[in-house]
Amino acid sequence: MPRWIKIGALAAGPLAALALVATPLIAHDRGHGGDHRRGHDVRLAPVSDPVVAKECASCHMLYPPGLLPARSWVALMAGLDDHFGDNAALDDATARRVTDDLTANAADKAGNNRVTLRGLAATDAPLRITELPSWQRKHERKDRVAPAALKRAGAKFKGDCKACHKQAEQGWFDDDD
Ligand code: HEC
Ligand code: HEC
Repeated sequence: MPRWIKIGALAAGPLAALALVATPLIAHDRGHGGDHRRGHDVRLAPVSDPVVAKECASCHMLYPPGLLPARSWVALMAGLDDHFGDNAALDDATARRVTDDLTANAADKAGNNRVTLRGLAATDAPLRITELPSWQRKHERKDRVAPAALKRAGAKFKGDCKACHKQAEQGWFDDDD
């Protein structure tokens, strides 16, 4: 259950305005059921290659490839020996297989939902999902990923989507998660 909606419970006096902001979120709480803004839900294909699932989910959640464009996956896979400070290097054959799967299912592949690429320059290849303009638009406001919000959700870092979106690895980013 999303902890950030608890803000609503604190609402009193000067905080009443906050309650107004929080109300639409409460409507999406599981416990209240039903009221989904289906049109806004984001659905991406999950990872299907077991090799990717094995190699890319030991330190953090398994990211659906449709979250980044192919050029980002290529850049990320080219730097695995210094992967955000960690060594996540793979042997060449495995790295090639993982790269192939991630790029084949990337956000900019024909037929895929490109919603995560909105506002991203065609020349930009961010290594982080959390650097995407579309991600920042959704999260960097209303303190959704402020340190306190991350702590409440038990998220290890901003890219720990699963802490807040329970079905993130399945590619589902619903308002009610
Ligand atoms: C040895 C541990 C480790 C392995 C294995 C690993 N990662 Fe990571 N990954 C990290 C760390 C550490 C971060 C940065 C976390 C932070 O910012 O606190 C990260 C961050 C990421 C991010 C950025 C998330 C964001 O938006 O902030 C992506 C994308 C990513 N990893 C993809 C992969 C892929 C694809 C693989 C498989 C090839 C992989 N990782 C394997 C440790 C690992
Ligand atoms: C600390 C909690 C938190 C974390 C971590 C987080 N999110 Fe979110 N996310 C939210 C909230 C809150 C919303 C707004 C829900 C709403 O619109 O009602 C949201 C909205 C979204 C949406 C829009 C959904 C829609 O229906 O429009 C997407 C897509 C999304 N997040 C993806 C991600 C991804 C990908 C990650 C990881 C890289 C992530 N989120 C990490 C809390 C989080």
